[in-house]
Amino acid sequence: MSAYVKRSLTPSFGLEISGIDLSEAITDDVFSKLRQDFAESGVLLIRNQGHISPLDQVEFSKRFGPLEEHVLTQFLLPGHPEIFVVSNITENGRYIGAHGGAKEYHSDLAYLKEPSLGSVFRCLECPEEGGETAFVSMAAAYDALPKRLQLMFDELDAVYDYVWSYDRRMASIRGPLSEIQRAKTPPIVHPAVRAHPETGRKALFLSDIWVRYFVGMNEADSQDLLAEVMEIAKKPEAEYQHVWQPGDIVMWDNRSTMHRACPFDEENTRRLMHRTTIKGDKPLRLLTGH
Ligand code: SIN
Repeated sequence: MSAYVKRSLTPSFGLEISGIDLSEAITDDVFSKLRQDFAESGVLLIRNQGHISPLDQVEFSKRFGPLEEHVLTQFLLPGHPEIFVVSNITENGRYIGAHGGAKEYHSDLAYLKEPSLGSVFRCLECPEEGGETAFVSMAAAYDALPKRLQLMFDELDAVYDYVWSYDRRMASIRGPLSEIQRAKTPPIVHPAVRAHPETGRKALFLSDIWVRYFVGMNEADSQDLLAEVMEIAKKPEAEYQHVWQPGDIVMWDNRSTMHRACPFDEENTRRLMHRTTIKGDKPLRLLTGH
């Protein structure tokens, strides 16, 4: 293995790491650098991993913690249920992956009681134009808020409602949720600002698509407030848009970033991505010891 080298993706977050081959065993020493860089920078890009197998991706992801099986079980990779397929490709008249969604900013599985720690996303096929994944740092977004909003969000709790959101946005595209899927995703309350469990840094913890309202506020006022703060978080100059090449792996920290898929010609081009999702813990407003 060559030397571990890092390069910034933006002035405030994200690193490209080179000198790593995920088909080979990663030493504890290299892994601890990766883990620290991941927690501190929020997004890691590792290129040239086209040769790795689904099992290599699973094994690498598991170094960060146990993996999560997605609620939409119809899009899990046969033989590797830890891999969630994101794709617009159809085979035998059926989509092979989750399609037509994720175009709005979110943090993966934020609607669960214990949202995901992070996601590892591998590109197998991508269109020549469009289909990038865009990221923003919610730690940088928190720092950029006027003091008035920081103080307000420090105290707020957000209600996430996956079923409400899915029924409005996705049911007509991906089909209705089953009763089991609905039962697995009741509304959940999380603090609107969370302290990163590894660095202690505060970040906004919000997702455009699933936050229905803030506790103690009606839905209309909540949505206005959410839009106000999201406008600051999503400023184009705060965004990193990753232009995919087959073999790229990008992993993001769901505790401190949000992401979205950019549009592409879904009728005429193919995009195939494999995602592993690392289990996380309950978001905490404050950490003891930080
Ligand atoms: C995701 O939200 O996990 C996928 C984003 C993308 O398709 O670029």
